[in-house]
Amino acid sequence: MDYSTLMLRWVHILAASIAVGSLFYSRFAILPAIEESLDEASQVRMHEAIRKKWLRWVGGMIFFLLVSGLANFLVLNARAKGWGGGDWMKQTHYHLLFGIKFLLALSVFYFSSALIGRSKGTAWVRENRRTFLSLTVLLVLATVLVSGWMRQLHTGPNESSQIDAGASMPESSDSGERSPRQDTGVQPLTPDEKPASDANALPVSDGVDVAKPSSGADSVPDAPSESTETK
Ligand code: HEM
Repeated sequence: MDYSTLMLRWVHILAASIAVGSLFYSRFAILPAIEESLDEASQVRMHEAIRKKWLRWVGGMIFFLLVSGLANFLVLNARAKGWGGGDWMKQTHYHLLFGIKFLLALSVFYFSSALIGRSKGTAWVRENRRTFLSLTVLLVLATVLVSGWMRQLHTGPNESSQIDAGASMPESSDSGERSPRQDTGVQPLTPDEKPASDANALPVSDGVDVAKPSSGADSVPDAPSESTETK
């Protein structure tokens, strides 16, 4: 197992979870509760009290998301050099998606900081707190959707679905890394095609190039298939 990549994912996903959760909670619980139950002067005091408690969390989230996100991106770029004959990034438009995601994330960072901050330059955001908090919720949702899309481009089948198909991911030949999922738009196999090079190849399952389990370290033990479980 690659522990450094795992650490990066943990940091990134934890920071993202706190960011998404806190934005939803602020928009749909805290803000309406404050507006409904406090007079103007108390609302100002409450927002100031929240600012003091939450500011360092926002700073921390931005820091950890940026550092882990950039590191993730660099690691993936290096790995993807061996995928799809070196053209995987181009074929999947990964960099375009990354650019969109990065801009979305930067706008989330901007509005989150403005909502919790007190600089005069960003007062216009706090004057329309409800609107900009709603906008930030939408932006962070879009960020997560694009992230999921990027992730989906290079994930293999779930372990359970590998087991269901009685199959393991094929290894890429040149780098020794696991190859990216084959249904990413990179020459997927049609149901009539069989992988040319693999004598053990099974028929294509769900558009994914699957092979019989090997007896090597990567093979997975038998488990009840989904169809058995659902019956
Ligand atoms: C609001 C801010 C952000 C949110 C909510 C967010 C959320 C996510 C989520 C949910 C994932 C999927 C994790 C996984 O399944 O492993 C992800 C992956 C990723 N994020 Fe972020 N992220 C944010 C900011 C950033 C930033 C600022 C960068 C870059 C500087 C970045 C770069 C990446 C990269 C490279 C991946 C891996 C995508 C892949 O697997 O192909 N993220 N992010």
